Amino acid sequence: MRAKLVLGNWKMNGGVASAEALLAAVREGAAGLAGVQVGVCPPFPYLGLAAARLSGSRVTWGAQDVCEHDDGAFTGGVSARMLADLGCTHVLVGHSERRTLFGDTDEVVVRKAARVLAAGLVPVVCVGETRTERESGATEAVLARQVDAVCAMLAPAGERCVLAYEPVWAIGTGLTATPQQAQDAHAFIRSRLAAGGVAAAPRLQLLYGGSVKPSNAAELFSRPDVDGGLIGGASLVAADFLAILGAAAHRG
Ligand code: 13P
Repeated sequence: MRAKLVLGNWKMNGGVASAEALLAAVREGAAGLAGVQVGVCPPFPYLGLAAARLSGSRVTWGAQDVCEHDDGAFTGGVSARMLADLGCTHVLVGHSERRTLFGDTDEVVVRKAARVLAAGLVPVVCVGETRTERESGATEAVLARQVDAVCAMLAPAGERCVLAYEPVWAIGTGLTATPQQAQDAHAFIRSRLAAGGVAAAPRLQLLYGGSVKPSNAAELFSRPDVDGGLIGGASLVAADFLAILGAAAHRG
């Protein structure tokens, strides 16, 4: 049985005061929940704050991105080792905003994920199709390309990886994949991982991301291959994030 995992991706939002308030509320609200693993991914400057405020709680913290290189002359970069030093557990790689706005290719995503693994952390590899790709029937081809890219790096073990299915058309749009669309994509991703030689495919947690809200979380999380969520906008509102955690916990 795979444990449910819910991660909040704060993206580039907030400041010290709002981060303090959100961290305190999530720490307190998550304390009473069982059966769900919880993490938040604040912007880099607030990771130290997250470490200070969440240490000793059941809430973990992670980063939204990482440099594909080791330490060195990479101005503006943040290495996986630095994230490990800050106590991060998870690191998002290949989020569609990184792919489209910052030019992260499949190859860059794989190199980043490899750095994360080498630092002893868990990469959360994000994949997903655009609206045009879905409407033209190319969803599985896109997912296959993105998943195949990471298979070679993960095989044969792949125990310490999470994949997040985030259909680009559902991110920040208010449009959510139906539970069946999410399940179909997740089942495809899992079978593709297995076909790519990742022996741990049946045990890997696959998260759904894209306009997850308190009103749709329970139904999404009820599907057999949906092992939790990667939450954007709703993770910035403590009550909403906690309600989503509750939806995952009930089915833990
Ligand atoms: P929203 O939940 O705001 O749609 O964002 C999803 C996302 O991109 C999480 O990484």
